[in-house]
Amino acid sequence: MKFFIDTGNLAQIKEANDLGILDGVTTNPSLMAKEGIKGEEAIAAHYKAICELVDGDISAEVLSTDFDSMVAEGKKLAAIHPNIVVKIPMIKDGVKAIKWFTDNGIRTNCTLIFSAGQAILAAKAGASYVSPFIGRIDDSGWDGMELIGQLRHIFDVQNYKTEILAASIRNALHIIKAAELGADVCTCPLPSILGLLKHPLTDIGLAQFLEDAKKM
Ligand code: G3P
Repeated sequence: MKFFIDTGNLAQIKEANDLGILDGVTTNPSLMAKEGIKGEEAIAAHYKAICELVDGDISAEVLSTDFDSMVAEGKKLAAIHPNIVVKIPMIKDGVKAIKWFTDNGIRTNCTLIFSAGQAILAAKAGASYVSPFIGRIDDSGWDGMELIGQLRHIFDVQNYKTEILAASIRNALHIIKAAELGADVCTCPLPSILGLLKHPLTDIGLAQFLEDAKKM
């Protein structure tokens, strides 16, 4: 399973990248706004900075919601760097835009996926990635991981090449479950990635080793 970091924060991206396990980055308008990125030039410069930090796919989301504007915006985003993947919302014009980008050699990540039907449509349109939002499904009282399992089954049976990108990850257990169920990618906030490091027995064991090392 590939690891992406889900943030627009350059320091966090660098910290995850320095671990040597990072395969890419996903952003969204909320994450970009959180970093104070405003205006077309600043947005493009920020994506360029992310592309220069990480050698992997970088999802950059369109802000418009009609076909013509999404295509125009996506073309500009894709021109920033070859690693840019244009992130498109799961709406009717979004599906049309994904198909247009597919036909024109531009890779896409279909975001805001909450059902198998939505993922099937995005895959049929040729999306490179679909992003099911695990945490938000859990928040609403359903089991987000059931969707990952269902998508893995459907995509395998149908031989879809679209990658399942588990998103809206809230903790380390989400990452483990996504790996278990065969997600192709998991995009995670930095604390969830670092959460994978933790085990009290590791801390206790290391403290003991360090204590005993003094006797060596
Ligand atoms: O990048 C999209 C997704 O990961 C959002 O996560 O935590 O806002 O539900 P969250």
